[in-house]
Amino acid sequence: MDNDTPRDAARDAPRDGAARDTPADAARRTAPGAPLRAAVKDHAPPPDVASATPPEAARATPPEAARATPPEAARATAMEAARATAPEAAGDPPPDAAGGAAPAVARQKAAMRARLRAARAAMTPGERSAAGRALRDAVLSLPETQMAGTVAAYFSVGAEPDTKELIYALWKRGSYVLLPLLRDDWDLDWASYEGPDSVRLRPDGRYGLAEPTQPPRGPGAIARAALVIVPALAVDGRGTRLGQGGGCYDRALARVSAAVPTVALVYENELVRRVPSVPHDQTVRLVARSRAGTAELLRLPLQPASSPHQTPPSGGYI
Ligand SMILES: Nc1ncnc2c1ncn2[C@@H]1O[C@H](COP(=O)(O)OP(=O)(O)OP(=O)(O)O)[C@@H](O)[C@H]1O
Ligand SMILES: [Mg+2]
Repeated sequence: MDNDTPRDAARDAPRDGAARDTPADAARRTAPGAPLRAAVKDHAPPPDVASATPPEAARATPPEAARATPPEAARATAMEAARATAPEAAGDPPPDAAGGAAPAVARQKAAMRARLRAARAAMTPGERSAAGRALRDAVLSLPETQMAGTVAAYFSVGAEPDTKELIYALWKRGSYVLLPLLRDDWDLDWASYEGPDSVRLRPDGRYGLAEPTQPPRGPGAIARAALVIVPALAVDGRGTRLGQGGGCYDRALARVSAAVPTVALVYENELVRRVPSVPHDQTVRLVARSRAGTAELLRLPLQPASSPHQTPPSGGYI
């Protein structure tokens, strides 16, 4: 672990996040470099837990158990058994989606999740890590990232693109990083990341989630972020996002100002032509997509001439 920087040293002038920065934040303002990779490598990632677990499965169970549906940031090992009886497999919508067009949309979402989870499950750990590194570099290159005093991110688990190095790099360069904690009401609380040792698997083992150990700051803490990094199974050219089905990020993003950039991290095949949506679905303003060892950043909505399947002219962000 890279704990060699004294927390009370290196009080460099903060950037735009000065008002929110703590002395510990200032202590991290060292140039990202060689120690980063080694330190991150030392940080054992959470187990590659059942990323293909459909949250919809949990909704087929009584309410108490249904609250155990994983958030976007989580995948369930304990849900393996439930997956065998997933309502989406039977074509049933989640019970809370009844009425109007919602059941049909819920079915469409469930089918899309199943397809995309299967594709993620077929990827090798090396492919996921490479995608994570490419996405890390893309997000770090964003002007908004370089300006951000506070960044809300998420600690990847399962088959998600790896975000551990991105989180570490953000912290190391001086951003105040918030990570989510799943609440029982399917909302997200937030607590600060203070280095690799400040994240641990949930004591209750729930879904293999890795969460910050610092004190929770409340669901409203996300509103202080100048950049929000969001997980997604898919994003379309309008910015419509498909998550794991808990609705956690729909709740959380509703607290984020329209002026704040929100960026979803996806694999190459996950920028799709259309994500089915209902009114509660929150959009994202950027998508970072890995492609063959590199990654591109696209601002959303895409212009009409743009296709999700085209490489932008610069090969970088637009
Ligand atoms: N703003 C909201 N108010 C009430 N319920 C909500 C809200 N947002 C989401 N939900 C609930 O969450 C359920 C799942 O939503 P949805 O299918 O959009 O999940 P998702 O966006 O894929 O998941 P997540 O946001 O956790 O990644 C909805 O059926 C709904 O019950
Ligand atoms: Mg949604």
